[in-house]
Amino acid sequence: MTEHHIEVPALDPGGYTIHIGSDLVTSLLDRVSEQFPKSQPFIVTDKGLVDAGQLSRLQGDRNVGHFVITPAGEVSKTMQTVTAILESMEAASLGRDSVVVALGGGTVGDIAGFAAAIFKRGVPVVQVPTTLLAQADSALGGKTGVDSSLSKNAFGAFWHPAAVYIDVHTLETVNDRDYRAGLIESVKHAMIADADYFAYLESHLDAILRREYDVLSEVALKNCRIKGHVVQVDPTERNMRRILNYGHTIGHAVETASEFELLHGEAIAIGLVGAGLIEVELGFSDSTRLDRVRALLKRIGLPVTLPQSIRPDRLIDLIRRDKKAVDRWPRFVLIDNFGQIHKQGKEYALDVGKATIEVVLEHLYG
Ligand SMILES: NC(=O)c1ccc[n+]([C@@H]2O[C@H](COP(=O)([O-])OP(=O)(O)OC[C@H]3O[C@@H](n4cnc5c(N)ncnc54)[C@H](O)[C@@H]3O)[C@@H](O)[C@H]2O)c1
Ligand SMILES: [Zn+2]
Repeated sequence: MTEHHIEVPALDPGGYTIHIGSDLVTSLLDRVSEQFPKSQPFIVTDKGLVDAGQLSRLQGDRNVGHFVITPAGEVSKTMQTVTAILESMEAASLGRDSVVVALGGGTVGDIAGFAAAIFKRGVPVVQVPTTLLAQADSALGGKTGVDSSLSKNAFGAFWHPAAVYIDVHTLETVNDRDYRAGLIESVKHAMIADADYFAYLESHLDAILRREYDVLSEVALKNCRIKGHVVQVDPTERNMRRILNYGHTIGHAVETASEFELLHGEAIAIGLVGAGLIEVELGFSDSTRLDRVRALLKRIGLPVTLPQSIRPDRLIDLIRRDKKAVDRWPRFVLIDNFGQIHKQGKEYALDVGKATIEVVLEHLYG
């Protein structure tokens, strides 16, 4: 299968290449030593990846220094884990000439990227994302960090990768629910940036769900072009990067209100429908576009209505506390059409009153 390359230029600490292919993990250590001939690699991964055989695929017959985050998942996304990684690198006598290889989903990428950002004041990180969410989103933007006991992603740094290797073969071992939920960022990218991509997702969904490598590579390529472009224009989220937040204002509230019963992708699916309902309510669109979105999400197996257990006043309260809120009410990213953000002057996010959001939430119960 052909390997694709995308250059992401001119970022701090420098541009990097995204490699997309189907068997990159097995040759990864050679590629890393080619890029960093004088450096010692150190692998950070989690228990789930070890159990799935992905660490063995990466190591081959070598035994490179590594740290396995246990248990896998959000509960380990803490400063304690970062400290443990840093101390284990120090104990292995690694210095400024080390390079961190992050093999895993978004949690591993965020934790390992942050550890790399602060080890000896910063060493390179090579991101090897192994979930659809990480391949479409978290491995690309340079955001790294961990949660505090009070909030998600409370501590962190912008630390752009030195290279990204997207090996679609790794997706083979992801469980079905995570896999389906991980598709949400691809749907979001298509909605905000590329109408043809949305049509591609509609026509290729069965192949995507069968995890066919050539289609998955194409999806990865489209995601990287979109996110790579946005990140390049706005590396530190001052303005345009906010469009990546599409569907996330309501979606994050739903995610929190569900007490994390819903996966991120499942909550954002409801958030994307919420954004569509706002667009209908404000007259940006008739309901045809929203029907297409609902139909695609349903085929993926994602929810399109709010569970009755989540009350609207709780959601309003959480929306008020959105990280990006100004004067206790956030702005909303909306589209006029697939691929067309509704801009207000230079602003990518709009004022939408609480009354409109209340109406939309009522409709979201289906
Ligand atoms: N930095 C960013 O810009 C950004 C963007 C979006 C999300 N995130 C973060 O990403 C995290 C979620 O990431 P995620 O959805 O990838 O979940 P995850 O990293 O927690 O992985 C989910 C589970 O899948 C397992 N797994 C991962 N890859 C596998 C594979 N190939 N085969 C078998 N099992 C595998 C893991 O072991 C884990 O148990 C959140 O912490 C979120 O905050 C960060
Ligand atoms: Zn998201």
